[in-house]
Amino acid sequence: MSVTDIACATCFDVDRIRADFPQLSRNVHVRGGKKPSPGKPLVYLDSAASALKPRPVVDAMARFMSEEYANIHRGVHYFSQTATDAFEGVRDKVARFLNAPSRECIVFTRNATESINLVAASYGRTFLEKGDEVVLSIMEHHANIVPWQLLQMEKGIVIKVVPVDGDGVLDLDAYARLLTDRTKLVAITHCSNVLGTLNPAKEIARIAHARGIPVLFDGSQAVVHSTVDVQDIDADFYVFTAHKLYGPTGLGVLYGKFDLLKKMPPYQGGGDMIQRVSFEGTTFKEPPMRFEPGTPPISEVIGLGAAIDYVEGIGRDAIAAHEHDLLNYATQQLSQIEGLRIVGTAPGKAALISFTLDGIHPHDIGTVVDQMGVAVRVGQHCAEPLMDRFGVGSTARASFAMYNTRAEADALVSSVQAVKEFFG
Ligand code: ALA
Repeated sequence: MSVTDIACATCFDVDRIRADFPQLSRNVHVRGGKKPSPGKPLVYLDSAASALKPRPVVDAMARFMSEEYANIHRGVHYFSQTATDAFEGVRDKVARFLNAPSRECIVFTRNATESINLVAASYGRTFLEKGDEVVLSIMEHHANIVPWQLLQMEKGIVIKVVPVDGDGVLDLDAYARLLTDRTKLVAITHCSNVLGTLNPAKEIARIAHARGIPVLFDGSQAVVHSTVDVQDIDADFYVFTAHKLYGPTGLGVLYGKFDLLKKMPPYQGGGDMIQRVSFEGTTFKEPPMRFEPGTPPISEVIGLGAAIDYVEGIGRDAIAAHEHDLLNYATQQLSQIEGLRIVGTAPGKAALISFTLDGIHPHDIGTVVDQMGVAVRVGQHCAEPLMDRFGVGSTARASFAMYNTRAEADALVSSVQAVKEFFG
C-alpha cells in the first residue's frame, strides 16, 4: 500500500460514497392501501451478484446516449469519430486497470461467461485434441465449467478438478500433481464467488508455466476486491465482467497475451472483424478486433470507463481495507449465532460470507431477512459442485461492497437472529 493509499484508507468517507448510489436511499416493501407501511431501508448485501451503480456511471452513459451517440469504427462524421475515440479510450483504460502490456490485449465481450466461451471455442477447439486435459477447480462458477464440458462433448478432452480443504483453500500440492504432459490449459477462478477465497494466482501460473501450460483466470470477483496486475500474475487469459465492478450489464472483458490471441481464429463472424470479404474467401483483422464482430455495447463500454474512474478515484486499496473491516466485523458477529455455519473461511478471503443455519432452508433465510430490508443471495450461486463438496444443498450469501457499513452488518446479524426466532 502506498503512502497516498494509506492516507486515502484512513479518510474513507462511506457517507459520501453512499450519496453517489441513489438506490441505497430506497425503502423496500413500501405499501399503500388500507395497511400502509413506510417499508424498510434497503440493506444491499448482494453486490457479488451485481453491484449497484454510482451516479457518475449512470450520468456518463446517459450523456453519451443523449448527446454524444453514434456507431463506432464506421463513420467519418463528427460523432462517429468522437464516439470511436471515447470507446477506444476505455480500451486503454482497461489495459491500464489490469496493467496489461498493450491495448491490443483487451477484447470486449458480452460478459465474463462469453469471455470464457470465447477462449474455449477459439483456443480450445484449435489447440486441444481428444485426451488433452483442462484443469479446473472445485470452486468454479458454472461459467468456468460448462464451456469446457461443451468442449469435452465435442472433442473428448479430459477435465480434472483441483480440490479445496475444509476452509476453502485451494490444494496447491494436489494442483501440481494433477498437471501432466497432456494438460493443455488451467482455468481457475481468482476469487470464489461462494467462499471468497482469493487464490494465489501468481503461484498457480508459475506452477503451470514451469510445464509450458497456459492459465486462464476468472477475475469476476477478484477485480472488485483487489488490485489485479496481469503481468505480475503472468496470466495468459484473464476475464471479468463490468456489472460487478459498478458498471453496466452486457459487457465483459477478455485479456489475453497478444501472441496467444494472434494464434486464435475468430469466435464469431460479422462486420468490423474482417479485413476483406469476398465469396472466394475472407480475411480477418488482428486482435482485438478479430473477436469483436458487429456493433459492440458502446454505451456500456463508456459506462465501464466511468466505473473504473470511480473505483480508482476512491482507491482500490482503500476499498479493500474498508471491505475487510466489514468482513471481519460481520464474521465475528455472525459467528456468535448458534447453529450458523460459515462456508469458506480461508485466510485473506474477500468480503463475502456464505452461511447456513441449522434446520432452516437458505431460501427461508433470504425471504425473512428481505422482509427486514436485507438483500442477500440464496441458492447454489452457480457453483453446484462446490455445494456438493461442502455437503450443503445451498447457502445464504451476504456480500459487501465499498458502500456498505458496520450498521448494515448489524442489520444483517439482527435479521438472521430474527430468522432463528421465527423458525425456532
Ligand atoms: N455469479 C453471480 C453470483 O455469484 C451471479 O451471484
